[in-house]
Amino acid sequence: MTKKLYIETVGCQMNVLDSELVVASLRKEGYELTDSPQAADTVLFNTCSVRQHAEDKIYSALGRLKNAKQENPDKIIGVLGCMAQKDQKLIFQRAPYVDLIVGPGQLHQVPQLISEIADGAGQQMEVSLGRKDGGRAEIERSHESFDPLRDPTMRPTPYQAYVRIVIGCDKFCTYCIVPSVRGPEQSRPPAQILAEARQLASEGCKEITLLGQTVNSYKFKEGERTTRFSDLLNAVHEIPGIERIKFVTNYPKDMTDDVLETVRDLPKLAKYLHVPLQSGSDAVLDRMKRGYTTDDYREMHDRIREWLPRAAVSSDFIVGFCGETEDEFQATMDSVREYRFKNSFIFKYSERPGTKGAERYPDDITEEVKRERNNRLLDLQNEISEADNQDFLGREVEVLVEGPSKTATRKDEADGPVLQLTGRTMCDRIVVFEGNQRQIGETLPIAIYDANAHTLFGNVVTQHVGPELFTLGV
Ligand code: SAH
Ligand code: SF4
Ligand code: F3S
Repeated sequence: MTKKLYIETVGCQMNVLDSELVVASLRKEGYELTDSPQAADTVLFNTCSVRQHAEDKIYSALGRLKNAKQENPDKIIGVLGCMAQKDQKLIFQRAPYVDLIVGPGQLHQVPQLISEIADGAGQQMEVSLGRKDGGRAEIERSHESFDPLRDPTMRPTPYQAYVRIVIGCDKFCTYCIVPSVRGPEQSRPPAQILAEARQLASEGCKEITLLGQTVNSYKFKEGERTTRFSDLLNAVHEIPGIERIKFVTNYPKDMTDDVLETVRDLPKLAKYLHVPLQSGSDAVLDRMKRGYTTDDYREMHDRIREWLPRAAVSSDFIVGFCGETEDEFQATMDSVREYRFKNSFIFKYSERPGTKGAERYPDDITEEVKRERNNRLLDLQNEISEADNQDFLGREVEVLVEGPSKTATRKDEADGPVLQLTGRTMCDRIVVFEGNQRQIGETLPIAIYDANAHTLFGNVVTQHVGPELFTLGV
């Protein structure tokens, strides 16, 4: 008999990929997906601990399941991922009706644990070793991932997939929980990564995004031979069928010239670099222990501009970090003006217990000031994004079509339904245009006629005749 699985995922791309892998392993056991937690035999939450808000969301979702579990005690409720690793037994204490807790390094055990629970084994918990719970090799082994299992139906589109190349993180920025929940930084063997990418290409996947918390820190040593990140990019580039390669997230100090040269020279590589600056103030960067100064970042950014004058660069920022003065915040505003990022992800500092930041510095910026700085920085970034997107007016871009846009409207015309589609350019800008179902998964030339801070709007270019553009779906 088929069993029904409901899975909810929060957090970063790592979690999206982990959920895909968990679903693939449970399908093998006869599970099918449902979008109703009420109707599901098993309900799983793949969780994130990066900010308090992400955890609160999960605890309240768990609260809403209390009655459903009382009515149907056979329903299995599981908490997976980073919050499972961080809170461990505390989750059983806060929500005693939870059956299963599994950290991100133990996800391969999920099918077995679920079947044991169904057989009456009671609550189960599998987590990896903490960063001080053993020797490095032992801790590394306890964070191993199970990447080869894939499930195309779990991906946002069958044409795009994530491939993990670096597990964990060793940078220990003082605000960040990731190194303790995802374990030591480990690069996966290139042969495994390439086999996975080839497999994805053979299933029709056209775009691969390589993942790592510090993706450009990738380095794999095998005997005498070292594979650098740029070597890996070159090898992935050789795979027939793959049309686009992206990678996130970059660590500024590891943005070496060989990486920039590779991005410049290889046509399948997206001309897009996500390299978070986090703050524009040296004093704040020092308290964050980011490992670089504003001068280091500027030097790196100058090199990006030298090798890749037109590439899009984006950033993350934390506002209201411990002790952030108005002047320090102004330095962040200035850095956004200086670098004109394509976009920035802006977060209000959220203290994470167990981090060096929580130990060393009081979380002394009020919520109101954090919110206000967040808004000011966002307004400035939006102004810059909108102004820079205007440069695209009248230009033609290549778009990999991902699917119907979120606000899709459907018009029926004489030659079939017209859909509002969305996709991305080689520099990772979102483009919305009218087209049809058949175009999903194709790479199309689009002429841009309008733009705002987040989106370019265009028409499919059907043919060039002389200097004129003939377009479809105006
Ligand atoms: N490895 C990536 C980021 C991973 S977390 C990097 O180093 O850039 C994604 C983003 O969340 C971070 O870039 C940071 O901006 C934000 N973040 C991490 N910890 C946070 C915290 N405690 N409070 C608020 N934002 C945080
Ligand atoms: Fe966190 Fe810093 Fe590692 Fe990024 S580099 S995951 S911010 S510790
Ligand atoms: Fe969150 Fe874990 Fe990713 S803490 S940001 S899901 S690595």
